[in-house]
Amino acid sequence: MTLELFEYQPLVFGPEKTAPFSDIEEEILALKKEKNAVLLAHNYQIESIQRVADFVGDSLGLAYKAAETDADVILFCGVHFMAETAKIVNPEKIVVLPDLEAGCSLSDSCPADKLAAYKEANPGLYVVAYINCSAAVKALSDVICTSGNAVQIVKHIPEDREILFVPDQNLGQWVSGQTGRPMRLWPGSCYVHVLFTVRSLERIREQYPQAPIVAHPECVETVRDMADEVCSTEKMIGFAREHPAETIIVVTETGMIHRLRREVPEKTFIAGPTDTCACNECRFMKMNTIEKTRDALINLQPRIEMPDDTRLAASKPIKRMLDWSRQ
Ligand code: 13P
Ligand code: SF4
Repeated sequence: MTLELFEYQPLVFGPEKTAPFSDIEEEILALKKEKNAVLLAHNYQIESIQRVADFVGDSLGLAYKAAETDADVILFCGVHFMAETAKIVNPEKIVVLPDLEAGCSLSDSCPADKLAAYKEANPGLYVVAYINCSAAVKALSDVICTSGNAVQIVKHIPEDREILFVPDQNLGQWVSGQTGRPMRLWPGSCYVHVLFTVRSLERIREQYPQAPIVAHPECVETVRDMADEVCSTEKMIGFAREHPAETIIVVTETGMIHRLRREVPEKTFIAGPTDTCACNECRFMKMNTIEKTRDALINLQPRIEMPDDTRLAASKPIKRMLDWSRQ
């Protein structure tokens, strides 16, 4: 029996048309001023949220912005671990996430009790935690990293320490290859990025043979090996600007293409397809709607809260990351 390949029209995007703000977008802009709130949005958020945000970026950029802001309220449009990071570095501020259910499959793959048990059974490991993890896991870690600074962070770790990288085995494997540091890898992965396959990318490459592929390091190794560049969502902007090609295949969550279209309007972007769809959206990221964003500003709810001892313990490896990645 031969399997039929799923038929789709590739999603091809040129420059984004700038429409005037909608009523709800205007309402959000006014509410931000009234509440002295800063709206931080991840690159995977819907277009309407990105339009009203004060800053749109990757996990690293958002962590820096959260640490620097003097606003009274941080409205974080991303997923739970990102808003939690903002609260850890800003305990005195109100941090609001439009939908508290906006979690992350990768973060869920490393429960804190399992990590604590593993550390106890394997003492002496240097724990590097990808920022996509809970505050309780951060509290058990030596240093945090993002996809944008993971290589730089690992290079700071003393050579004589054995590394345990949690929770993303794909990012960990990529960082290990880039740095030459052997690592124990926690067996977690992002359900979105593992949907990209060699077959799905070969099909799109046949249609656009001149287009380079830029892929997120959360993709599996065989997919990363096909890419012309592997990098964080923020670095994809620089890659798109600098690469001479006019058309680029973007292998990450499809929301990324909003920012690419705004910031690199002269180029055309193709959403990296999976075997079953022309696009690939994170259901958690998409839980934040423009209505929930407006309501979160009106009510200053739902808020991110956590016990003080967890927050204090989690702040140390975050601070170490922020210091090391400035160097
Ligand atoms: P970036 O840090 O590259 O924005 O990635 C975050 C993320 O959740 C990827 O799935
Ligand atoms: Fe988590 Fe993957 Fe969604 Fe990123 S894309 S928030 S890693 S589930």
